[in-house]
Amino acid sequence: MSERQKTVALIGARGHVGAELMRLLFAHRGFDLVLVSSREYAGEAVARHVAGAPDGLHFEAATAAQVAEREPDACILALPNGLADAWVGEIAARRPQTVIVDVSADYRFDPGWHYGLPELRPTPPGTTRIANPGCYATAMQLAIAPVAGIIASPPHCFGVSGYSGAGTTPSPRNDPARLQDNLMPYQPIGHLHEREVSFQLPTAVRFTPHVAAFFRGISMTVGMELDSSYELAAIVQKYEEAYAGVPLLLVSTEIPEVAANAGHHHACVGGFQLDAAGRYLVAFATLDNLLKGAATQALQNLNLTCGYAELEGIPHA
Ligand SMILES: NC(=O)c1ccc[n+]([C@@H]2O[C@H](COP(=O)([O-])OP(=O)(O)OC[C@H]3O[C@@H](n4cnc5c(N)ncnc54)[C@H](OP(=O)(O)O)[C@@H]3O)[C@@H](O)[C@H]2O)c1
Repeated sequence: MSERQKTVALIGARGHVGAELMRLLFAHRGFDLVLVSSREYAGEAVARHVAGAPDGLHFEAATAAQVAEREPDACILALPNGLADAWVGEIAARRPQTVIVDVSADYRFDPGWHYGLPELRPTPPGTTRIANPGCYATAMQLAIAPVAGIIASPPHCFGVSGYSGAGTTPSPRNDPARLQDNLMPYQPIGHLHEREVSFQLPTAVRFTPHVAAFFRGISMTVGMELDSSYELAAIVQKYEEAYAGVPLLLVSTEIPEVAANAGHHHACVGGFQLDAAGRYLVAFATLDNLLKGAATQALQNLNLTCGYAELEGIPHA
C-alpha cells in the first residue's frame, strides 16, 4: 500500500454502478473519493444516499473541465454508453496522466485502451486507459475461455439479467410492474455484448439476452459444439486448471444460481454437462451484474494499475 491515498473522481455516481463504486471506494484505504458527479442530486449530501460517505461530501454537477482542474489521480466514468468521448478528451488534454476507467462500452473495441477482465487479461501497473468489460460479456467470457480452443462453432449464450442491468432511466426493461411474473427477451441479433465477446475471444458467439423480475444478478447458459469427443472429467479439469488460484472465480460441478451469487463479488462457473457423444457441452455462469459485472471489476482494474493488491478493498472468501 502506497503512503499517499490516490484521489478519485467518479462521474455518473447516481447510477446503480456508481452507487456500488462509492460503497467500495469509501471503504478502501488507498483511494480518496474527492469528487462525485450527478446532475440530479447536485448539492445533496452523498451520505443521504450512500452509507459510509464522509461528512461534507456532496454530489456535484461537474463538467469535464472542472474534473480535470481538480487533478484527480484517477477518474471512473460510470455514464450511459456514448458519452465518454467528451469527458476523456477534456481530461486527457488537461491532465493526461490521470487514470481513466470507463465502465461503458465506448472503448471496449479501442486498441488504445486496455480491456480489463482481470481473470483473463490482468491490467498492467501504470495503465492509464482501461475499458471495463460488460456484465453479460464477462459471464460469457468466463464460461467459454477455458474451452475456447476446442470449440467447433459459435457457442450459443442464453443470458438472463436482473433489471438493474437496464440502468435507472425508466424503460420497460427496468419496470418492475412489466416484469412481474414475466421474462422479457430483447435484441436477439447483434447485441453489443455479442460483438464484444466475439471481438475478445478466439471464437464468435451468439447471444440471446433476457431480463427478469429480480433486481441484480445474471444467469448465463452456454451451449458449445466441441471439435471432437471429450470426457466430462477432461472438460472439468480444463476449467479447474484455468481458474486455479483465481480468487473471484468459483468453479463448481453444481449449476450456479443467481440467488446464491447476487450481492457477492465473485463469479461462478459450473454445472458442466456433456451429451452422450461427448461433443456438446453446456456450461453455466452467474455473477452480480453490478459487482463482478461492473464495480468490483473496475476496482480490480484500478487496484492493479495503481500498484495495490488486486483485491484490496474487495471483501472475498
Ligand atoms: N447496470 C449494470 O448492470 C451495468 C453493468 C456493467 C456496465 N454497465 C455500464 O455502466 C454505465 C452506468 O450504468 P448504470 O446502470 O449505473 O446507469 P444508470 O443507473 O442509468 O446511471 C447513469 C449515470 O450517468 C449519469 N448521467 C446520465 N446522463 C448523463 C449526462 N448526459 N451527463 C452526465 N451524467 C449523466 C446519471 O446521473 P445524473 O443524471 O444525476 O447526472 C447517472 O449517475 C453504463 O454505461 C452501463 O452500460 C452497467
